[in-house]
Formats: sequence, C-alpha cells, structure tokens
Amino acid sequence: MRTSVSSLSILLYILLLSAPLPLTQCGDLVGQICKKTPFYDLCVLSLQPNSGTDVKTLASKMANLVLSNVTDTLNFIQGLVKQETGTSLERPLADCAELYIPVVKYNLPQAIDALIRGRYGFADYVFSDVSKQADACEKNFSGEDESPLTDRNKLISNLCDVAVAIINILQKGF
Ligand SMILES: *[C@@H]1O[C@H](CO)[C@@H](O)[C@H](O)[C@H]1NC(C)=O
Ligand SMILES: *[C@@H]1O[C@H](CO)[C@@H](O)[C@H](O)[C@H]1NC(C)=O
Repeated sequence: MRTSVSSLSILLYILLLSAPLPLTQCGDLVGQICKKTPFYDLCVLSLQPNSGTDVKTLASKMANLVLSNVTDTLNFIQGLVKQETGTSLERPLADCAELYIPVVKYNLPQAIDALIRGRYGFADYVFSDVSKQADACEKNFSGEDESPLTDRNKLISNLCDVAVAIINILQKGF
C-alpha cells in the first residue's frame, strides 16, 4: 500500500512537471500578437527571443526598436550627406535627415512615453505618422538618383505598422 501511494505521487509529480509552463504561454503571446500585424515574420523576429510577459511590454519593446532603427538610419544619412556633397543625392538625403531629426528627437520619445502612460491614441498617431515619413523620404529620390535608403525606409515603415497593430490590440483587445 505504501509503495503504491508513493508511486502514485511520483506519477502525479511527473504529470505536474510536464504540464505547460507559463514560459510556453509567453511564446504563444508573441505568435498571437504577431498574427494580428501586417508583417508576421518581422514581428516575431523583433519580439523574440527576449519575449515579454504582456502586450504592453511587447508594444514598448517594438516602440524602442523603431526608435533605435530610425536613430541608426539618421546617423547613416548624415554620414552619406557629407559623402555626397555636391552630387544630386545631397538634396534628397538632406531632406530625409530634416524629416527624421524631429522624429528621433521628439516624436518617438514622446510616443514611447505616451505608451508607458497608457495614452495609446497618441502613440498610435505618432507611429502611423512615422511610417508615412519613411515613405515620404523614399519618394524624395527621383528615378535617376536611386535611393540608398530603400531597405532602411521600408524596414522603418514596416516596423511602425507592426507597432501600430500592437497598440491597437492594447486599445481594443484581440
Ligand atoms: C532594426 O530592426 C530590426 C528588426 O527588428 C532589428 O533586427 C535591428 O536590430 C534593428 N536595428 C537597430 C539599429 O536597432
Ligand atoms: C523632399 O521632401 C521634402 C519634404 O517632404 C519636400 O519639401 C521636397 O520637395 C521633396 N523633394 C523632392 C525632390 O521630391
């Protein structure tokens, strides 16, 4: 009798151990969220492996990723502007820098702050706008002057669209 009780408790223990852990649910949350965004693969790539435990944390992570991408691109543009001085690329590059400077300095930091404070409408507005700014920068290059920023602008625009979709989940639920 004693042996059977203890083997039963061992069996129970094993069953408990093999039950889904909260960790698995974290992974599911990223998948669940990313399915609601227009760029699933980019979303998953951006939010893993260090996945957060709730939608708001993941939204903040995406928002900060947008900021670091735009900051990196602005630095890249400012380097190119010096390199291309006097060429036909100088003007559109300078226009893009002018466009991205306030985004890095004010708009995105304000949007990230708004996100933390639960002012989702404002955050939503800013990320939608930055997505449009990236498109506007790209359009600044005419046919002959091929844009050296195409991949970066597209990535920024897509990251913003993912951020907007996640903020929408915060506002409206799944
Ligand atoms: C830009 O975003 C991509 C995709 O999430 C990420 O892999 C990359 O590290 C980011 N770049 C910077 C400079 O933050
Ligand atoms: C580039 O963008 C700026 C600001 O959006 C605009 O004023 C300018 O006319 C554009 N230049 C070209 C060549 O499209």
